[in-house]
Amino acid sequence: MKYLVTSALPYANGKLHVGHLAGAYLPADIFVRYLRLKGEDVIYICGTDEHGTPISVNADAEGVTPEEIVQRYHDLIKEGFDGISIEFDNFSGTARPPHHILSQDFFTNLYEQGHVEPKDTMQFFCEHDRRFLPDRYVEGTCPKCGADGARGDQCDKCGQIYDTNALVEPRCKICGNMPVILLTRHWFLHLEHYRRRLKDWLEQKTGWKESVRSFILNLLDQELVERSITRDLSWGVPVPLPEAEGKVLYVWFDAPIGYISATVEWAERIGEPERWKDYWLDPGTRLVHFIGKDNIIFHAMIWPAMLMGQRLPYCLPYDIPANEFMNLEGQKISTSRNWAICVDEFVRDFDGEYLRYYLAVNAPESKDTDFAWKDFQHKVNGELNNVLGNLINRVLVFAHKHFGGVIRGLIPDAEAGAVLKEATGLYHEIDAAYRQYQVRKNTRQIMDIARLGNKYFDETKPWQSVRHDPEKAMQTLSTCLQLINMIAVALTPILPKSMDKLRAMISLPAVSSWAEGLGDLPVEVRIGEVTTLFNKVEDAAIAVQLAKLQLQSNPETASPETGQAAAYATVPPLKDAISYDDFARMDIRIAYVIAAERVPKTDKLMHLKVDIGSEQRELVAGVAEYYDPLDLIGKKIVMLVNLEPRKIRGILSQGMILCANEENDLALLSPVKDMPPGTVIY
Ligand code: 2FM
Ligand code: ZN
Repeated sequence: MKYLVTSALPYANGKLHVGHLAGAYLPADIFVRYLRLKGEDVIYICGTDEHGTPISVNADAEGVTPEEIVQRYHDLIKEGFDGISIEFDNFSGTARPPHHILSQDFFTNLYEQGHVEPKDTMQFFCEHDRRFLPDRYVEGTCPKCGADGARGDQCDKCGQIYDTNALVEPRCKICGNMPVILLTRHWFLHLEHYRRRLKDWLEQKTGWKESVRSFILNLLDQELVERSITRDLSWGVPVPLPEAEGKVLYVWFDAPIGYISATVEWAERIGEPERWKDYWLDPGTRLVHFIGKDNIIFHAMIWPAMLMGQRLPYCLPYDIPANEFMNLEGQKISTSRNWAICVDEFVRDFDGEYLRYYLAVNAPESKDTDFAWKDFQHKVNGELNNVLGNLINRVLVFAHKHFGGVIRGLIPDAEAGAVLKEATGLYHEIDAAYRQYQVRKNTRQIMDIARLGNKYFDETKPWQSVRHDPEKAMQTLSTCLQLINMIAVALTPILPKSMDKLRAMISLPAVSSWAEGLGDLPVEVRIGEVTTLFNKVEDAAIAVQLAKLQLQSNPETASPETGQAAAYATVPPLKDAISYDDFARMDIRIAYVIAAERVPKTDKLMHLKVDIGSEQRELVAGVAEYYDPLDLIGKKIVMLVNLEPRKIRGILSQGMILCANEENDLALLSPVKDMPPGTVIY
């Protein structure tokens, strides 16, 4: 299959933030990476949207040319994408001359067939700023739903579009004055001419998201207003008519044409100038537009109509998987209010792969989701580290410790067979879900494979079998290695860099095909140096981010302390000093967990049986909310053994296990290196 994948062209007027990524970019990048693994013919095209009033207004305000603004943001946006490994085949821009020529050609085609016609209209004009005010520069009350803050042409609240002049109580957004209305000539696209064709086309798209298909079909049942596709502005694509001097094409008219001009540019760059036609002029091409929900009308109604009205037989969108929005700490992301996390800043503080993971597992596929720093930490620490990192680490370290770093492929025994069968089932489901853009589900299921691996490792207890039946321990490693490899492939579209590293650790080249996840591994796999793939995100780092967000969005009310000081302040105060003798009275030892079960009728308590080298003990610990009994059995932990015994829920608890405790989290302590039970700690 031939795929042409695009992401909405970002305006060259601001930096990228996490909401942009979650909606239109990361899902597309993941989809493209997946398709490549499946051996599909795919190109991924994007670029900056470089026209429109905001760019010219900002240029005026800064006293620079629009070209300067565009270049600056084009570069910044590209850097942002590079920072989190979003890789396009071409990243172009709509201010480039070939794009202007193609956009004019689009206009001329529609005009010559009578689908575009001029009309004299009343337009807002700000006498103070001496300029016509297009849609986004007039604000007022929505004529449909009554919401305040509605834009000139569209209300963010109800999503409706309407004629600028319909806006109630208009204000100029640049200076706040009430604009006057002047007569000006504009060119209008007769969408009505396309109603039937659009309906027939959309009705067949039964696999589409309902938020896109039904929404547009519904609009197609209402009166279709003619849409003005020109503006009174000097920055943009000049309208190719002698009588339209001083007017440009509406930014939303030329922007999607950028998908084509960027493909043409790509073909030229690779030295095959005709190659763009293989994609755009083949009706079989699967043209997939990734967008946010605010772009649905333009991509699923106006753009297809524009394509239908061309002389060349351009393919129409195959799918438009529009995503919902991502909020930030419960509020709508807004760069003007500084309530945003910019990608370039994120990657200065954290690994870009953590962001990819969090946005994938929290993708706004069917409803709005929220970026919450605590939740981000929870997912990175709890899933990437504790589930996946733990599996990789324990298996590979064990292989080094007991088998000289070599894992042999063995024919699975019954237990291994069952585990591999379950994982293979998940692997096929993940495969199908990638095609459906269901990245959330996939991320969860990939983690389920890792959980399966951890559970199997715990249950087969290789640390015991290695002593009397090393072949059995090798069976555990061999099976776990297959699971790890399956994960490496399945997670490559989401975490390409980490999975490359992981494959290198198991002496395999970077993943190049989906089939490698189920293929045979070499008979002997030599494990390389085991390095940490993921690090935990510390509480202090999260506190810094939360403080920073408050500070940038509300400098007056936020504390004057730096983020670091704010972070220190969240840590409980230190206790009074004690003598060495006080400390020496505590007998702290390594203990080995032999058995664990939840204490019936409680949520928090776990009944543990441990070996402390010299004897076995029972105790009750408040860890059941954070650990599964299976997570604990077979673990070496740290225990205060001379604490006075105490009866808890009828069980005599003889000691206390040591944990790092936080308000909403808890971690058992465990020796960094394997040590026998009973080892004294001081
Ligand atoms: O909403 C936006 O950010 C627009 N710049 C998207 C344009 S998408 C396409 F038409 F180019
Ligand atoms: Zn004004």
